[in-house]
Amino acid sequence: MKLGIIRGSSSTRGNTDGILNWLLPFIKGNYQIAGPGIAPYPTELLIDQYLPAMVTKYPPQVKPWADFVRSCQGFIVVTPEYNNGYPGYLKMAMDHLFPEWKSKPVFIISFGGRGGAQCYEQLTKVLAGGLKMDVIDGIRISVPTKYIAGSTKIKGDEPFVTEHSESLKSAVSKLLLSRPFEQ
Ligand SMILES: Cc1cc2nc3c(=O)[nH]c(=O)nc-3n(C[C@H](O)[C@H](O)[C@H](O)COP(=O)(O)O)c2cc1C
Repeated sequence: MKLGIIRGSSSTRGNTDGILNWLLPFIKGNYQIAGPGIAPYPTELLIDQYLPAMVTKYPPQVKPWADFVRSCQGFIVVTPEYNNGYPGYLKMAMDHLFPEWKSKPVFIISFGGRGGAQCYEQLTKVLAGGLKMDVIDGIRISVPTKYIAGSTKIKGDEPFVTEHSESLKSAVSKLLLSRPFEQ
């Protein structure tokens, strides 16, 4: 029984790690992180081999991802905004599955120059409307330019991050309460 933390960014030296430093202490119980470069996130494009909405057996390359998503009771998606949307990796990974997402609670933490607002909006539409997930809440973190364009990266204790701590706390409670959650 676990919570899946899904990273949208493929960078291991960027701002997502700092946001996770802030996020993870709020999560009690089991969690597993997945994302580009972190198994079992899919690395190949295989949707041409089956129709996820009607799948009876996943190809072996997709099965670990399907097993992972099936085993999670809820999700937190942590993602930067890319070109007014969300990263393509994230869409690719989500599109490889279908029944595994349905009705599961999820909340979104988007970040970017203006809180990743467009990424947030698009992702909400896809998760709620497309994948039929229960989007329970979300946080948009507005990141100052020096953290985006410069070498300074988020550590997790910056006021523009921690100002969202109360919202995060209540979102995590909702997430854990929305399904029986074993710790
Ligand atoms: C391809 C690309 C497109 C981006 N487009 C946007 C954007 O539209 N809006 C925005 O606020 N930030 C944009 N950014 C900045 C990212 O939000 C920022 O670099 C963020 O820190 C990336 O997350 P990471 O550091 O964890 O990889 C873009 C970055 C990349 C690499």
